[in-house]
Amino acid sequence: MKNLIDKLCRERALSAEEYKALLLCRDAEVLEHLQRRAQEETLARFGNRVFIRGLIEITNRCRNNCYYCGIRKENRNVVRYELTQEEILECCREGYPLGFRTFVLQGGEAPELKDDRITETVAAIRREFPDCAITLSLGEKTHEAYERFFHAGANRYLLRHETHNEAHYRQLHPGSKRGNDRSGMSLQHRLQCLDWLKEIGYQTGTGIMVGSPHQTIDHLVEDILFIGQFRPEMIGIGPFIPHHDTPFASAPPGSMQLTLKLLSIFRLMHPAALIPSTTALATLAPDGRERGILAGANVVMPNLSPPAQREKYSLYDHKASMGAEAAEGLQLLEEKLRSIGYEISKERGDYRILDETINHKSYNV
Ligand code: 5AD
Repeated sequence: MKNLIDKLCRERALSAEEYKALLLCRDAEVLEHLQRRAQEETLARFGNRVFIRGLIEITNRCRNNCYYCGIRKENRNVVRYELTQEEILECCREGYPLGFRTFVLQGGEAPELKDDRITETVAAIRREFPDCAITLSLGEKTHEAYERFFHAGANRYLLRHETHNEAHYRQLHPGSKRGNDRSGMSLQHRLQCLDWLKEIGYQTGTGIMVGSPHQTIDHLVEDILFIGQFRPEMIGIGPFIPHHDTPFASAPPGSMQLTLKLLSIFRLMHPAALIPSTTALATLAPDGRERGILAGANVVMPNLSPPAQREKYSLYDHKASMGAEAAEGLQLLEEKLRSIGYEISKERGDYRILDETINHKSYNV
């Protein structure tokens, strides 16, 4: 099994069967080896520095009904909100002096939030913070909308594919009832959006939840193969965590071990990728964030949303948004990172191709 890991380091890819064997392996020594190689890879490329992104949750309105998500349309127990452009800019103004040079605007697919307004907000941030990166995470939009946001100054876009298996996708998302009904979601359209984003020129992020209901090891292998082929600049991966007001309320959460294993595999497949140690990981266990970093993550995304709104953006139960997960808790985050030998980088942290194709053994030459 260790040979497989070394092969993954050398060749940056394995066969489907080999990935599956690695995912099924429970040998502690092997897992430690995988994690160590992923950490070495991250240290060689990024040093012990972790990029920070200020996460601004701009609206919890959503037209979709994803079975796993707490802000799904049919959840009547959510108090809905939408930040104004001025409120979003205020978040950025708060984050900038703290050292944030990336702002991530995330939100549900709110029909009220018109593309024009998003474009204007992106342009306003671009004007006021010319040295910052703007990341959007606003779901599926038209090709034209993606283009307009890009030309207004957005640089990156996060859109997890959630699962690359058709049948599993339908088990997580209600589909269209009839052929011409556009209200449902489809894997095909999601993948189309990802292709558009890349083609337009965004640094594009995708990813999955680990342990989402009905997920199998074979699905995860499909996800790995897709990520290997799509080569996203960013890979978002976190455990599924149930939300009490969703159809998946009583499903068990995803496993920390498996999440960390996948994180390390993605790091070895794609050494230059920006991989966050996600809030979901930090929610699952008190030391989840740190364990993510030690398994090969190199990004954290503290919450910059107005504190009064944070609890309304409840994708899953007990979602962390305070303490080291909060932008204002940056010092605490710094201390936690220091305790494992890492520090915060206040650089923008764009994706850099560098020498991606060169065998990693030679990249210091
Ligand atoms: N548990 C974990 N992650 C979730 N997300 C949504 N709901 C949950 C949940 N219950 C993730 C999805 C989405 C991202 C913004 O949050 O993967 O893409």
